[in-house]
This record gives sequence, structure tokens and C-alpha cells, in this order.
Amino acid sequence: MAYDRFGRNIHYLRISLTDHCNLRCVYCMPEDMTFRPNAEMLQDDEVLLLVRLFASLGFDKIRLTGGEPTVRAHVVDLVREIAAVPGIRSLSMTTNGVLLGKLAQPLKDAGLQRVNISLDTLDTVRFKKITRWGSFDQVWDGIQASEAAGLTPVKLNAVVVRGFNDQDIAGMAALTLDNPWQVRFIEMMPFGGATDLQRQQVVTAAEMRGQIEAALGPLTPGNNGKLDGEARIFRLPNAKGELGFISSVTAPFCAACTRARLTADGKLRLCLLRDKEVDLLTPLRAGASLEQLRQIVLDGVWVKPWGHGLAEGEFATNRVMSEIGG
Ligand code: 5AD
Ligand code: SF4
Repeated sequence: MAYDRFGRNIHYLRISLTDHCNLRCVYCMPEDMTFRPNAEMLQDDEVLLLVRLFASLGFDKIRLTGGEPTVRAHVVDLVREIAAVPGIRSLSMTTNGVLLGKLAQPLKDAGLQRVNISLDTLDTVRFKKITRWGSFDQVWDGIQASEAAGLTPVKLNAVVVRGFNDQDIAGMAALTLDNPWQVRFIEMMPFGGATDLQRQQVVTAAEMRGQIEAALGPLTPGNNGKLDGEARIFRLPNAKGELGFISSVTAPFCAACTRARLTADGKLRLCLLRDKEVDLLTPLRAGASLEQLRQIVLDGVWVKPWGHGLAEGEFATNRVMSEIGG
């Protein structure tokens, strides 16, 4: 088992399968984003070796992220092999949904259990404005395909950006009236070289909640008042689904953090919003033994930072979101 020096048991690994993406969301990357060469990235056998290693240290929950994980070559085969690793109890994916119309069923058959799909608005014009390259209809098809394939409960992630989709909050929340989905509203976070947009156009969870209650009625706490992952859960009156608020900026959930991240280039990142990373790929390629790698992971987890400093205006500067995977 992996523990940090604050007594937190770290057993949830988020793996970025690629930093590439088929969209260019305004809060995530510039339109002319450049990527590093594939040779510097974890190859399939290296991902699997590390998954087995983490599983042997008590990690039992894996989420595949990106960039956009579905654009990785052989993603279905990789999911099948990860799902078969003993000890992996939960396997899910965070995706923009663009390719799910085609991939939802094969991914489910390969052993993927659930998906979180990014959807920031129901308005097709604003959808294009936010994602730059996306088509709302394609993602909507992906959501339907995921539900049909049993990648459930479907969770939708909406990052709220003032001036882009803050008028869509109530409409997104209303999706839960008729659908058994969890619609999650995320406070925009600043990343490496934080843009003015990321810093200035944040909408707080409290404001989102206020808008929803004004339009749709009072929210009641769900999940027995406990966090679901990083989300605080609520329900609209008579709703089939539920709402989640991820208030990373205004109310961090660091005390209950159980996660570590593996970047696409093979670094163990201990906190989404702190620069501290431990290189796993270099020792792996230099022929380190499994025992040595295990010790590197345990030592890295031990010094996991307590939490982030967004409230104090401290930003991580070395990476952008698409390199870390959210
Ligand atoms: N702040 C908050 N969430 C972000 N995401 C991407 N960039 C940001 C940001 N700056 C979200 C995506 C997706 C997940 C991978 O991270 O919308 O849901
Ligand atoms: Fe791609 Fe996700 Fe970033 Fe949008 S937020 S550009 S879908 S990685």
C-alpha cells in the first residue's frame, strides 16, 4: 500500500494516454498547440508494466485521460489489457466524447466500466466556440452510445467560463430531470502559463448553484452529503440524475485526495496543481528492476504535496492540462 506523509492512502491512478487531442477547448490549449515526439511517450508495454507495478502497490482504481485518450492508437486493446490486470477494481475514462459513437461499445466490451464526457453547453454554436473544432451532434451521439453500451452512470463534465457558457448552466442542469446522468460543473483552473481567460473568467460553484436554484428550484444534498470523488452532489426536485460541483478553486478537496497521476511521458505527478513530478520512464528504460521502480513510486507518493495553493494565487507552471490529464 502507498501512503503519503499525511497518512493519505494513495490508490487511485489517473493515466494520461496521450497529450494529443482532436479538439482545442479555449480553457485547455491554444489552437496551434505543439506536441512532443512519440518516442518520449510511454509505449503500450510500458503503460502495462507500470499499471501492474501500481496494482502491486495497492492501486485499485484507474482513470484513463488525455489529452484525449480515445485518439491513442490501439486504445481498445490497451483497455482490454489494463482491465485484465489483477487488482484493478475500477477502470474508467475521461473523454471529449467525439469518438464514442464508434468506440463506446468496443471499449465496454474490452472492460471499460464508465465514462466522464466533457460537455460544456447544449447550444451548438457556443459548443463550437468553446471547443473550436468540435461538433455538438457528434458528442451527443457519443453520449447516447455510451449509455446504450452500459458505460454507466454517464457523467458529463462542464467547465464553466464566463462569457462562453455561463448562460447554459441551468439548461445543462435540467438534463438531469429526465436522464439518469450526473452533470458536473467544474470551476475553471489555471495551468502552466495560465492564460488571462483562466484567471479572469472563473465562475464559482456558489454562483453556478445560485443560477440553478433560481431557474429550477432548491437543491437537496445527495450521496449522504459525502464527496463523490471530487464532486459535491445535489439533486433537483424529482430529478432522475444528479448534479455535482467541483470547486477546485474556491473549496479544495485536497484533504481527502487519494490520487496520483501518470503523465503521457511517464512522470508520476503527485498533485494536479503542483509542479512536483517523479520520472519513471527514464529508470524504466535504463533497466531498473521492478523492486527499484516500486521504491521510486513509494518514495514519490510519500512526498506528495499536502494540497494546492490556488486560493493563495499559487499556480503550477510546468505543464498545461492536456499534458496532465485532469
Ligand atoms: N480547468 C478545469 N477543467 C479543465 N479541463 C480542461 N481544462 C480545464 C481547466 N483549465 C477539463 C475538461 C475535461 C477534463 C479532462 O478537464 O473539460 O472535463
Ligand atoms: Fe481536448 Fe479535453 Fe483539452 Fe478540450 S479539454 S482540448 S477535449 S483535452
